[in-house]
Amino acid sequence: MARVFASMLAADFRCLEREVRRAEEGRADGLHLDVMDGHFVPNITFGPMVVAAIRKLTSLYLDVHLMIEEPGRYIERFVESGADGVTVHVEVCRQPAEEIEAIRSLGVEAGISLNPETPVASVQPFLGLLNGVLVMSVHPGFGAQAFMPSALEKIRKLRTWIDREGLDVQVVVDGGINSSTAGPVREAGADVLVAGTAVFGGGEIAERIQMLKGHRET
Ligand code: DX5
Ligand code: ZN
Repeated sequence: MARVFASMLAADFRCLEREVRRAEEGRADGLHLDVMDGHFVPNITFGPMVVAAIRKLTSLYLDVHLMIEEPGRYIERFVESGADGVTVHVEVCRQPAEEIEAIRSLGVEAGISLNPETPVASVQPFLGLLNGVLVMSVHPGFGAQAFMPSALEKIRKLRTWIDREGLDVQVVVDGGINSSTAGPVREAGADVLVAGTAVFGGGEIAERIQMLKGHRET
């Protein structure tokens, strides 16, 4: 069984509090917060103020996914805003070990993410420093895109490396997770599934989350 983080990108921003409650009642294991800067990705979302507002609403784990250039400049702000984990992209880290250390020194969990076109070997040297690796299974920037099956091989490789070294690193998968893709992603070795559309997109939220976790297939 995997854990599921609900991606707020697919929530109804007219009423964030209600959406946070829905995720809580649906037994999400955490909230995934997508921060986009209009440079690293062709979309803009929100910054630390919104993370702080969500922090006031819930004690759920807040997983902040920074899709921004120069992530090192903003790590502290997001930790102060209440992030429990901060994930930066390997493509824009100056020295990934530095950004990872900056995150961990602030007392929260550190993740590194890689785009679909980025080889998984780019994160291998840092596995021993990390709490999580976030595999993008869509091009980052937007929700509701189709899962890219090329992510499965990356998940398998990470799982093999992590298990072989006996490391405590979570494999997180983000993008296009739904009732068809969740099973193969879990089987490939993912620990955490990030899902936006499949969680908030309609229907009974608790059932959807349980299905993604692998409680039962539909
Ligand atoms: C995309 C974001 C994802 C997004 C996933 O750049 O990183 O977290 O919310 O959305 P779905 O689950 O709809 O593919
Ligand atoms: Zn994300």
